[in-house]
Amino acid sequence: MNYKVKAPVKAAEKFNEWRYGMFIHYGLYSIIGRGEWVMCKERIPIEEYSRLAEQFKPGKNCVKEWIALAKRSGMKYACLTARHHDGFCLFDTAVTNYNSVKTAAGRDLVLEYVDACREAGLGIGIYYSVGSWEEPGFIAGPADAELWAQFVAKDHAQLKELMSNYGRIDYLFYDGCPPPATWDAAGINAEIRRLQPDILISERCGTEEDVASSEGHCGAHPGKLWESCYTLNDTWGYNRFDRNWKTSEGVIRLLTSLTHNGGNLLLNVGPAPDGTVQPEASAVLEQVGEWLKINGEAVYGTEPHPFNYIDQEISTGKGNFIYITLHGDFGPERVICGIGNKVRSVKLLNSGKMIAFRQQHDKILLDGLEHKHPEELPRVIRLDIEEAPQGIPNPVWRPERFRVC
Ligand code: GLC
Repeated sequence: MNYKVKAPVKAAEKFNEWRYGMFIHYGLYSIIGRGEWVMCKERIPIEEYSRLAEQFKPGKNCVKEWIALAKRSGMKYACLTARHHDGFCLFDTAVTNYNSVKTAAGRDLVLEYVDACREAGLGIGIYYSVGSWEEPGFIAGPADAELWAQFVAKDHAQLKELMSNYGRIDYLFYDGCPPPATWDAAGINAEIRRLQPDILISERCGTEEDVASSEGHCGAHPGKLWESCYTLNDTWGYNRFDRNWKTSEGVIRLLTSLTHNGGNLLLNVGPAPDGTVQPEASAVLEQVGEWLKINGEAVYGTEPHPFNYIDQEISTGKGNFIYITLHGDFGPERVICGIGNKVRSVKLLNSGKMIAFRQQHDKILLDGLEHKHPEELPRVIRLDIEEAPQGIPNPVWRPERFRVC
């Protein structure tokens, strides 16, 4: 597929191969445990908030453990908050002492993170908030030209540090961005591409770049690389009161829905102050990881395809294979329509069994699917078809009027 990107085509292909990644929100706010906006929402003065840096002591192996968890869970890339809106940096920077190297932690967490990702073979994403609540220029706004210029210069310097000091970075995830012209987003992005020729840049900076981004909903941007990021409970940064975890079934539904529409899922963890991921969160992620071991071929590197279903089945394609995730139990007989190809075989991925079927024009009638136990995670069938997939539109419901999200 052709994507509108500034990055090289191979970078775009890599992003689509990933499909599933881990977002990590970790910083001083984790100590308070009421989410990453706590400084702003509770109006904590910077003099008081910044003292948290003296208590910030991540567990020795926590960074490696995040990445090991991501890997076990079938995630193919990660994205760490190198600096969130509170301005505290998890990396070594000459711009400010307000960072994890020059305070109690005494560690460059971004360095640990890129090393761990590299070792595990995960794509490396860096989240950077352009806006910072500890920066006088950002608080004053562009009306104070001098302070604003200082703020912009510092941000540019930090972005260059991040893009120069850690080897290859695959993905830059911007957040907290003022209007692009006010901080010369185009200029710094050109410089970033010079430093990192293969990087993918998120369009959250406000200029047209590589990756469209949605938060908490399915974005669907046909013809573009895109990603939706979601929380695993209801909060990005650690919230010790938030127990509203998504289930593994819910995550699989989300992942397969996004993939069906051509996008990636960036799913968040908010580690506790010592850097541990809550057991409820890791349990869900690991269950999804087990599911992906069997059904991952329906997710990684797949593309939307022209078949269109309207009854909860969610499908992806790769070459001559079409994958359909069966979420519910509709009994042993299933009818799947809209297929303009001859179907050669139907295979149930979790058992490896071939399923008996008959084909009548654009329909296949499956026979002999076992009942799905309510506790069982969704099952995936793989259709092997002749030639490239040809969709036959539903005569009473046109795909352009309906999108599965
Ligand atoms: C929002 C929030 C932020 C979170 C981010 C994740 O922009 O401000 O706290 O990091 O979304 O996408």
